[in-house]
Amino acid sequence: MYRFFYWLVLSRLPAEGTHRIGFALLRAFAAIPGARWLLDRITRVRDPVLAVRALGIDFPAPLGLAAGFDKDARGVDALLALGFGFVEVGTVTAQPQPGNPKPRMFRLTRDRALINRLGFNNRGADAAAQRLARRRRRGVLGINLGKTKVVAEADAIADYVASCERLAPYADYLVVNVSSPNTPGLRDLQAVDKLRPLLAAVRAAADRAVPLRKVPLLVKIAPDLADADVDAVAALAVELGLDGIIATNTTIAREPLATPAPEVAKLGAGGLSGRPLKARSLAVLRRLRAAVGDAMVLISVGGIETADDAYDRLAAGATLVQAYTGFIYGGPMWPHRIHRGLAQRLKAERLSAPVRSSATRA
Ligand SMILES: Cc1cc2nc3c(=O)[nH]c(=O)nc-3n(C[C@H](O)[C@H](O)[C@H](O)COP(=O)(O)O)c2cc1C
Repeated sequence: MYRFFYWLVLSRLPAEGTHRIGFALLRAFAAIPGARWLLDRITRVRDPVLAVRALGIDFPAPLGLAAGFDKDARGVDALLALGFGFVEVGTVTAQPQPGNPKPRMFRLTRDRALINRLGFNNRGADAAAQRLARRRRRGVLGINLGKTKVVAEADAIADYVASCERLAPYADYLVVNVSSPNTPGLRDLQAVDKLRPLLAAVRAAADRAVPLRKVPLLVKIAPDLADADVDAVAALAVELGLDGIIATNTTIAREPLATPAPEVAKLGAGGLSGRPLKARSLAVLRRLRAAVGDAMVLISVGGIETADDAYDRLAAGATLVQAYTGFIYGGPMWPHRIHRGLAQRLKAERLSAPVRSSATRA
C-alpha cells in the first residue's frame, strides 16, 4: 500500500517537503493519547533473538534510525514507536544554522537513492537539549554532533566540545560526525592528526558533563576514505579506547547509478545515500572489523534495504545497523518488516551452524 501511495503521491512532491510533512504527521499522530502504545504494539517485533547488548546498553533490536532524519530531536519517541531499536538524532551543531539554500534534497527513485546537501540545518545544541530535557527517558537515543559551518577549522574542537557538554546528559551514546560532505572542510577532520585531539577533547567534555556515567563515544566516517585511511581511523579508535565506529556516511561518488548521468549532474553537489552505497559500506565494515578485532562496536549504515541486507552486515561483523534511505522508500512499516525478516534469519542460523558468533549479541 505504501509503495502505491509513494508512487502516486510522495514521489511527485519535493523530497524535503515530503519529509517535513510526513514527519510532522507522525509526530501529531504519536501525540494522541494511546497512539504511541498502539504503534508500538503493531510495529515492535518482540523476539529475544533480536536483542543486542552493546556499549553497556540493552538494544531491543539491532536496526536503528540513522542520523539526519530527526536533526532537532523533535520526534524521538514517535520514531521509536515505529519499531526502531534505537534512534540517532542530529547532526546537532553548537550554534543554530539554516543549512544550504533549497532545493537541497533529491530522490533518485530508479536507484532507490537520495542526494542531499542539507548542510546540517538545525536549531542548535541548546534547543535540542531543551527538547530532550522534557523527554521521559525510554528507548535508546544516540546524539550525533557536528561542526557549526561558520566556525573556523582552527576552532572546531571548541565547537564540538560546546555541543557535547550541552547534550551529553541526554545521550545513551554520542557520535562525532566528521564525515558529512556538505560542510566545507569537515571531512578533513578524519585525518588522524586532527581526529586524535578532537576525539580526546570530546571524550573529556562528555566526562565533565556527565561525571557519574561514561557516555559511549563513537566516530562516524565517510565511505570515500581510502582503505589506508580507514585502517588509520580504526587504529586510532583502538589506541584511544573509543567505544565504536559508525560506517558510513553518504558518498560524494556518483557511481554506479541507473539514473542517467546528465540528470544526476543537474542535481549538483551532495551526499549520495541508499542502494548505490551498499557495496562500499559493506566493504568498509569488513575492513574495520578486520582491523579492530572483536571488541569494538561497529554500526553499519549505508544502503540497507532488506532484512537480508541487515543480516549480511551482522554476519560481516556489524554489532548494530542503521538506515535512513531504506526507511524513506520503505515507509512506516519498514522497520517492522526488517526486524521480522531478520528474526527469522537469526533463528534459522541458530538452528544450523552459526554464521558468526558475535561477542556482542545478547
Ligand atoms: C537527507 C539526509 C540527511 C542526512 N543527514 C545526516 C546528518 O545530519 N548527520 C549524519 O551523520 N548523517 C546524515 N545522513 C547520513 C545517514 O545518516 C547515513 O549515514 C547515510 O544516508 C547512509 O545510509 P542510508 O543509505 O541508509 O541512507 C543523512 C542522510 C540523508 C539521506
